[in-house]
Amino acid sequence: MTRPGAPPAGRDARKQREPDAVDAPDLLRLTGISKTFGEVQALQGVDFRVGRNEIVGVLGDNGAGKSTLIKIITGYHRPDRGGEIVIDGRRVADLTVARARALGIETVYQEKALADKQSLWRNIFMGRELVTALGLLDLGRMRRETRRLMSEEMGFTSAAVTPDTAVRTMSGGERQGVAIVRALYFQARLIILDEPTMGLSVSETQKALDFVRGIKRAGKACIFIDHNVFHVYPVADRIVVLDRGRVAGEFRKAGVTLEELTRRLQQVAQTGSLDGTPAAQG
Ligand SMILES: Nc1ncnc2c1ncn2[C@@H]1O[C@H](COP(=O)(O)OP(=O)(O)OP(=O)(O)O)[C@@H](O)[C@H]1O
Ligand SMILES: [Mg+2]
Repeated sequence: MTRPGAPPAGRDARKQREPDAVDAPDLLRLTGISKTFGEVQALQGVDFRVGRNEIVGVLGDNGAGKSTLIKIITGYHRPDRGGEIVIDGRRVADLTVARARALGIETVYQEKALADKQSLWRNIFMGRELVTALGLLDLGRMRRETRRLMSEEMGFTSAAVTPDTAVRTMSGGERQGVAIVRALYFQARLIILDEPTMGLSVSETQKALDFVRGIKRAGKACIFIDHNVFHVYPVADRIVVLDRGRVAGEFRKAGVTLEELTRRLQQVAQTGSLDGTPAAQG
């Protein structure tokens, strides 16, 4: 990704500043979102936002409403009346799965998304193959692009992994990386990972977390859902704690140590709230 150069100094700086640079609206902003399933109130008046190049960690116990929240963001569930979804500063009244995708919101599923026996490059381009001017599959370009994506964009360091490696031989953390690279390549702006470390070993978990850092480096945004604060804290810019369908707390990493956060999470578990601890607003 190319980064814009330093802004010119002095009076011209303001004039030449990209309007996007400072004043751009959040990529995503949810206000007062609720969702009921029959008797179950999965979400209750949730406010939630994601900045343009922000990694937002979402923590919460089983049933806290994490998956429901992301299913609303991906257009899979429609929230109850009364809430508001704003993307790029524009209200979206009828968010559907197709609309969310068109707006660059992609969810990465670890296992489901990849074809095990196929090569890495086939997995990256599956369903969106590159073709030559004659309409034939452009194998060379897909292999080259895969190599470039793995090394430049995502920092795939393992020499054992080439574009022709079968996905089945890759570790869980590496597979997570393949799915993320694919989403980035196809212009995702917000990548949602629902428990990407589930079932991974310690070292694979570290790899998966490195790929989350890659999303940040690529200038994109991410919602990273996990049970484990030790996974979320190192990669997130901001951490939102859900508890029984409500936002129980919100922390900017810069404003809280891991020890402090762990202590407060215990408090949520015991009392369901973070009384007396003002949540840091992003
Ligand atoms: N489609 C559905 N129909 C009925 N109830 C649902 C549905 N989806 C979620 N729920 C309920 O809503 C609540 C929140 O569920 P959700 O899946 O969002 O939790 P979660 O935080 O993702 O939990 P986990 O950590 O176990 O994945 C739960 O009580 C769940 O049973
Ligand atoms: Mg879930």
